[in-house]
Parts: sequence; structure tokens; C-alpha cells
Amino acid sequence: MFGLVGCEQASTGFSLPVGDPTQGKDVFLSMQCLSCHEMEGFERPDGTEDKLSVTLGGKVQSLKTYAELVTSVINPSHQLAKGYALSEIQASGKSVMPVYNNIMTVEQLIDLITFLESQYELEPYTRTEYIIYR
Ligand code: HEC
Repeated sequence: MFGLVGCEQASTGFSLPVGDPTQGKDVFLSMQCLSCHEMEGFERPDGTEDKLSVTLGGKVQSLKTYAELVTSVINPSHQLAKGYALSEIQASGKSVMPVYNNIMTVEQLIDLITFLESQYELEPYTRTEYIIYR
């Protein structure tokens, strides 16, 4: 089983070319994703510090697949991020995240997703150690 984990792209059902994470970071900054998101290593724009902030990247217990990341950008309402109050992240049943589909080129999308993917780190599940008193 362990050997299979490396070939993430194989099971996604579609494969886009590999993007450029540096360009993707530029897309991330220029499209002002940080006005609603926070990511380690990045400052949020002035005035947004106490606004809605959905964390992207960082240590996670299960990685989003490539397809999930693409979906969350081009179809934000398909599946809402977990762990946030619905009243904050959706309005009339839709994600408050804007749809960028008519302003983002496919190349920008590819680079952006490559960048986003590189920001997640899998944190191995650690068992709780129970001390048994006898
Ligand atoms: C107006 C606020 C807003 C902006 C701007 C915004 N988002 Fe979001 N985003 C959200 C909210 C709210 C959610 C949680 C609801 C959902 O999953 O759609 C979210 C969810 C996401 C998720 C899924 C996170 C998860 O853990 O499931 C990704 C990935 C994402 N956004 C990427 C981006 C990127 C990339 C940009 C810039 C191109 C961006 N967002 C711009 C509000 C925003």
C-alpha cells in the first residue's frame, strides 16, 4: 500500500500540465486571495486582518487531491470548506468566494493550483498515548 501514495496524479481522472509555482504565487497575490484567506508566510492586506479568514496550506491530516483543489477554485460552491460557520462562508446556499472563471486564464489556474498544492504538508496522524494506571 505504501508505494502507491506517491503517484497522486494517476487517479485524478484528468491531468493538466505541471504548472509553475512561482507564477502561481503571483496569481495568488494579484487576485487578492489573501483578502479572505490566510497562509503561513504571507501577510494579509491592510484592513482585512479581522475579516473572514479561511486557512489555505499548512499542515493537514489529509491532503486535498489535485482535483479537489481545482474544483474549489473553479466551482467554490461544490463543496464548502469544513470547520467554518456556514453563516460566514456561504450566502443563499453559495460560497462567498468569487468565481474567477472569466478573469483567470487556464495557464494562471494551472500555476495557481501547483502553487497551492505545494503549500500543504501532510502531518502524520499521531496516536494519543494513554497511560494505563494499574
Ligand atoms: C471573498 C472572499 C474570498 C476570496 C477573495 C477568495 N476566497 Fe477562497 N474561499 C472563500 C471561502 C468563504 C471559502 C470556504 C467556502 C468554500 O469552500 O467555498 C473558500 C475556500 C477556498 C478553498 C477551499 C479550502 C478548503 O479547505 O476546502 C480554496 C482552495 C480557495 N478558497 C482558494 C482561493 C484562491 C486561490 C483565491 C484567489 C484566486 C480565493 N480562494 C479567493 C472565500 C474567498
